[in-house]
Amino acid sequence: MIPLPGETIRWEEAAGEVSLLDQTALPARVQRIRCRDVERLAEAIRRLEIRGAPALGLAGAYGVALAAARSREPDLPRFLAGVAESAELLRTTRPTAVNLSWGIDRVLARVRAARSVEEGRRVALTEAKAVAEEDALTCRRIGEHGAALLPDRCTVLTHCNAGALATSEWGTALGVVRSAVAAGKEIRVLACETRPLLQGARLTAWELVRDGIPVTVIVDSAAAALMQAKEVDCVIVGADRITRDAVFNKVGTYMHAVSARFHGIPFYVAAPHSTFDTGSTAADIVVEERDGDEIRFRGQEPVVPARAGVRNPAFDASPLALVSAIITEDGVMRPPYDFTAAGKRREAP
Ligand code: MRU
Repeated sequence: MIPLPGETIRWEEAAGEVSLLDQTALPARVQRIRCRDVERLAEAIRRLEIRGAPALGLAGAYGVALAAARSREPDLPRFLAGVAESAELLRTTRPTAVNLSWGIDRVLARVRAARSVEEGRRVALTEAKAVAEEDALTCRRIGEHGAALLPDRCTVLTHCNAGALATSEWGTALGVVRSAVAAGKEIRVLACETRPLLQGARLTAWELVRDGIPVTVIVDSAAAALMQAKEVDCVIVGADRITRDAVFNKVGTYMHAVSARFHGIPFYVAAPHSTFDTGSTAADIVVEERDGDEIRFRGQEPVVPARAGVRNPAFDASPLALVSAIITEDGVMRPPYDFTAAGKRREAP
């Protein structure tokens, strides 16, 4: 049973608030968080209670709708200024996944074109729901295109979580796995635990176990040895941003890309057009640096001597030269990559 439509994040009609599945509590507890205002939603994004690039796009979109719904401002220019301020608060929560800004800007554009406050509230919510519905469809298409790349009886290595929890449902990298399984193929998944916050061990494994898809969790540093031992047929990961020259994804992805190339294993990236940033190169991108305490402590217990330094970059950039194919909702792109159409597609409303 995959996470159901709206399980990751949804609009609660009666309460006029955003509800999301608390991803920091999984797999120990399945609990929801209710965001009654934009400040709480911004906090949820910062804490990774909701995370994953397409899901952050949804959070941005619903966040602008929430700001519009909660505004008590009757004057249109002041209403628009308030919503824009909330949008900027959301935008600054996490810098690397481009989908967050994409979702925010899509809804903001509708609000700005409104002729009354009432219309602004209405179009914001309609657009946010459209973003969520389109994402679901997009993931299914990515899944179908990608499934054709997987041979029957294969082992897929993945990193972090690019599943239903990182999207509205189905997933990108895990969407490919799900679609292949739905087509009757026997697929096993090696899920890298994904230090330090364990999105692979906690979230990818949780999703796949619920689905009945065989999954084995490994420490991130075991990946190369298992490739060498011919236990991996391909790598599939999601993406937080695809620039003209690189794929940004959870830190650790780059070492899998290098290892896969060395061992002659295909390295696939599955991502929607909303993840493309074809106007930028890797050098332009801010890589989120998270709190060092995520590394210093295991629970309450320090695992790093107090006077040692720590670095905690949350993402890395895999050069496109290492990417065997990019699977989008429109099909499978192969090198040499031409992003002209992808760039235009992203701009389309
Ligand atoms: O820090 P996170 O958990 O938001 O990082 C998420 C990832 O790196 C995912 O692999 C990426 O967003 C792709 S999600 C379909």
